[in-house]
Amino acid sequence: MILALETSCDETAAALVNRRNRLVASVVGSQAAVHAPYGGVVPEIAGREHVAAMYPVVRRVLEEGGTKESDLEAIAVTSGPGLVGSLLVGLSFARGLAYRLGIPLIGVHHIEAHLLAVLLERDVRFPLLGLVVSGGHTHLYGIDRPGSYRLLGRTRDDAAGEAFDKAAVLLNLPYPGGVSIDKVSPLGDPRRYEFPRGLQRDPGYDFSFSGLKTAVRQQVESMGRLNDDQVADLAASVQEAIVDSLVTKTLRAAAEHGYDRIVVAGGVAANRRLRRSFEERAAGREVIFPSFDLCTDNAAMIGAVGALRLAEGAVDDLRLQVRTHWPLEQVRWPAA
Ligand code: KG4
Ligand code: ZN
Repeated sequence: MILALETSCDETAAALVNRRNRLVASVVGSQAAVHAPYGGVVPEIAGREHVAAMYPVVRRVLEEGGTKESDLEAIAVTSGPGLVGSLLVGLSFARGLAYRLGIPLIGVHHIEAHLLAVLLERDVRFPLLGLVVSGGHTHLYGIDRPGSYRLLGRTRDDAAGEAFDKAAVLLNLPYPGGVSIDKVSPLGDPRRYEFPRGLQRDPGYDFSFSGLKTAVRQQVESMGRLNDDQVADLAASVQEAIVDSLVTKTLRAAAEHGYDRIVVAGGVAANRRLRRSFEERAAGREVIFPSFDLCTDNAAMIGAVGALRLAEGAVDDLRLQVRTHWPLEQVRWPAA
């Protein structure tokens, strides 16, 4: 049994994953309500909240999984990228527990975990094309096998989740914005406003969402006080622009690089329009989404990587450090 911890941003999460990479228990303690008044995550507050929540969350997951500390074989913990104060809380806790129990520590890349989370639910064949869409990332990777990632494209400015969140602020929708836009969009007309799809004619696979943000701001400023119908139309049109950008580029990358399977991961992968649009446009390719709970930040996905690495003996030792900036393509699993 592997205990997995995730504290890279604003969720204090713990999970138990067994050696066959099946999820036994998962607890996600969200700080969303604490940060909501600020319209975004406040790093200092996040760190303090993690300190208060870490031990209770771990105790709860052990209870829910009917597991004793002495059953644990390894501890997997997010070691980057993320907020330094938040990462340090999880890593310090993991290091202390691994030392006390005399078991290996496994430092996991947060984005690798998003991409491989789906292995908890089904078998997946490699190679794969991986699209990570979260609050901090919009990246396309070629994945030859777990542990080997090649960057094909990335956002040049805002991440897709950031674009959702910033548009939601302009529309006065509650935080987190992506969830709000997903909720109100079915009530609106996605073709009412034609917002820009950044870099659509660029031959590469990079994304850009800053022009969208500006266009939404100008549109909103030109309209005065918005009624509910206008908010719904604007939200649906923003969502359509983001989804169209993501799906168009990803499918072109899949075609041009010969990938038959695509995995879409990260918080924005929970978006219902994104899921439907990929299904509609996949043209015979298999597009794999983790279930909703595995898309947004959680510790189960950290355990998924932990289980793979424990099986290969690719573990770290107590000298493990956090890495706030850590490109996924630099991940190297330690040799057994
Ligand atoms: O992966 P995640 O939980 O945390 C990061 O590692 O960033 O992603 C959070 C992002 C936020 O920007 C949030 O607004 C967005 O994912 N998000 C969504 C949805 N659920 C979460 N965006 C669009 N539609 C959703 N249903
Ligand atoms: Zn994440």
